[in-house]
Amino acid sequence: MDWGMANRLNRMIDPQTGKIVMLAVDHGYFLGPTSGLERLGATIEPLLDHADALMLTRGALRRWVDPARRVPVMLRMSGGTSIVSNDNGASALSNESLAVSIDDALRLNASGITCSIFVGTEHERQTLENLTDLIDAGQHYGLPVMAVTAVGREMVRDLRYLGLCTRIAAELGAHIVKTYYCEGFEKLIEATPVPVVIAGGKKIPEREALELAHRAISAGAAGVDMGRNIFQSRAPVAMIRAVRAIVHQGAGVDDAWSLVAGELE
Ligand code: R5P
Repeated sequence: MDWGMANRLNRMIDPQTGKIVMLAVDHGYFLGPTSGLERLGATIEPLLDHADALMLTRGALRRWVDPARRVPVMLRMSGGTSIVSNDNGASALSNESLAVSIDDALRLNASGITCSIFVGTEHERQTLENLTDLIDAGQHYGLPVMAVTAVGREMVRDLRYLGLCTRIAAELGAHIVKTYYCEGFEKLIEATPVPVVIAGGKKIPEREALELAHRAISAGAAGVDMGRNIFQSRAPVAMIRAVRAIVHQGAGVDDAWSLVAGELE
């Protein structure tokens, strides 16, 4: 691996622990003004000191992140569809294209670039091509690529499906893969030869979100790329600190929860 690529990965994945806490706030690229992100800048400001990387769109980055902040950026490169996209009555969410040029990603000083893949959908091939186009461009400039295994409504979030997606992404050359936690996650980790991070998914009670992070880390995940379970919490700073304790210090759920419980009262 060349120096630039290695350096960018080490800026995001802590070389001391081999782990990462990424804060995902890219939801608006297809969901619009997601609850908690209407004033994205104000929401993330207190969280940035606790994030190893920030996943967001270029529009949000330009408008809401002070360039003096030293947080590494994982730039969302795919887009072009929305929650109301419609293809003869069916969701057309998977019909994404690449929406940012590699030049702009470099101009924005991204540490990593990312796109979604929609395996098993009618746009599977197109989204896998988006990924390989990004990987080739990333190889050229030393920019690592994270593949996000998006799950269509018709897909089941089980080991068979998610394991298929993460392995394909890694085989195609992704440097990091983001997916969902599932039963048997350790098997997915074994069969995916690059670091795997989990999304948090919809907001659930704080202790359950910590349990989820703990199960993923215990099964061998390299970390989390969590959004709503942090920024939609009534105690977002406590939540990200608790997640960090699990990811970087190997804290148990009770210890992590003790950082949050009092803040929710
Ligand atoms: C999915 O395609 C996007 O990257 C989401 O913004 C991300 O997965 C959200 O994270 P969370 O599910 O933890 O809110």
